Amino acid sequence: MPIRLRLVGLATSMLAALAGLSGCGGASTASDANAGAETVSAPRASAPAPVPTLADIGNRLFNEASVSASGKLACAACHVESRGHADAEGSFLPLGGVEGRHQGLRSTPSVRYLDQAGSFGFDAQGRARGGLFWDGRADTRQQQARGPLFNGDEMANVDVAALATRLRALPYAGDLRAAAGLPAAATDDQLVDAAVNALARFQADDVRFHAFTSKFDAVQDGRTTFTDQEQRGLAAFNDPQRGNCASCHDSRPAPGIGRALFTNFSYHALGVPRNRSQATADPAFFDLGLCGPQRNDLAGRNDLCGMFRTPSLRNVALTAPYFHNASFATLEDVVAFYATRDLDPGRWYPTVNGQVQLYDDLPAGLRTNVQRGAPFRRAGQAAAISPQDAADIVAFLRTLTDGFNTPAGAQ
Ligand code: HEC
Ligand code: HEC
Repeated sequence: MPIRLRLVGLATSMLAALAGLSGCGGASTASDANAGAETVSAPRASAPAPVPTLADIGNRLFNEASVSASGKLACAACHVESRGHADAEGSFLPLGGVEGRHQGLRSTPSVRYLDQAGSFGFDAQGRARGGLFWDGRADTRQQQARGPLFNGDEMANVDVAALATRLRALPYAGDLRAAAGLPAAATDDQLVDAAVNALARFQADDVRFHAFTSKFDAVQDGRTTFTDQEQRGLAAFNDPQRGNCASCHDSRPAPGIGRALFTNFSYHALGVPRNRSQATADPAFFDLGLCGPQRNDLAGRNDLCGMFRTPSLRNVALTAPYFHNASFATLEDVVAFYATRDLDPGRWYPTVNGQVQLYDDLPAGLRTNVQRGAPFRRAGQAAAISPQDAADIVAFLRTLTDGFNTPAGAQ
């Protein structure tokens, strides 16, 4: 599956390059590239060199390691296409920084299916919604891209001037300025703005970031059917008395796009176990999501501590490790955690002096923020998710991977 995805991507970019993207609006989407492909057979020798669009430049920048301080780290190194644009296979928490050895705090999320995230805010009931990053601290992709570019744990540019110097040294610096309508004497700020705009445009335009080509989509379109187990898994996923997963990971079509996103961009504290890593070596340090320390505007809101944004589950079979702190390696364990967090806590949390350390990635005073209700059950109750439900749900989650094709002739 990952190999096929990579080939699709390659074919798309080759077609786009061949077609020169002229006369088709220039957006680097697969459909435009295919539409342009008909003209490929008779290229005119005198055709002017194609002018790359901002999205084309964004594509190059996304794969450009030389804009990082180590010279080794592109966006694409952490957001790997064959892994659903999330962490590279086998990676734990991402390594970045000037030397490329500093371990970050959080798992790398997929950068697909974010178009509907919207900006961060509170709804009429006072519930947090939307925004980019696990804690919603960026409202737009432009603002978001500045995060990794200047984050000392990631691409580690010390300031705008340092990044502008790296941008000027690119072989396609002239194309970047042309696509952004900038003069040769563009300032540091203008160049950096152009680069983050290009990255945003690429992610907004390129079909790979919102392909909707999973088996789930094919079933929705009536082109194929689920296996019995997948069908049972979807039922358990939706059932408010069992998985209740869809109450946060929405499985109904989102308004306006007619496709399910498997998130409503809401925030919850699930009480996932602490990941003992370099980043959390200090026992007094806690990553509390909405209330900090990566964002500080909600620092006084103790009721929001421990809450992280619900991720989309599209391509989740490709995007291990799981949860904001990468504390789980498999989908089986994630679903078992939902089923037995409070029924068999010794399986998930360490025991010290005979005492299970419940919700050990939250300071003691904030553990009351932890989410209750299905699928979570109180100690002593029966599990909402049976072992059979859990296996079925995992089978269903595996239908959310992009790149599913119905067998030939089954259209
Ligand atoms: C060292 C690994 C690394 C690199 C390099 C990196 N990212 Fe990320 N990316 C992450 C991590 C980790 C997060 C989550 C951080 C957080 O939530 O605080 C993230 C989050 C994001 C998000 C938000 C996803 C969401 O679900 O809200 C987007 C979009 C994104 N990155 C795009 C980019 C772009 C564009 C670049 C290049 C300019 C880039 N990333 C470079 C690791 C990386
Ligand atoms: C109350 C809302 C809510 C419910 C119900 C819920 N989730 Fe989640 N889910 C979240 C949030 C929030 C996160 C991120 C939490 C974190 O990282 O701290 C998450 C994370 C996940 C992840 C990890 C994804 C990743 O990219 O790291 C998976 C897989 C998942 N949920 C599957 C499920 C399944 C399956 C169910 C039903 C059994 C379910 N969830 C029920 C809110 C919910």
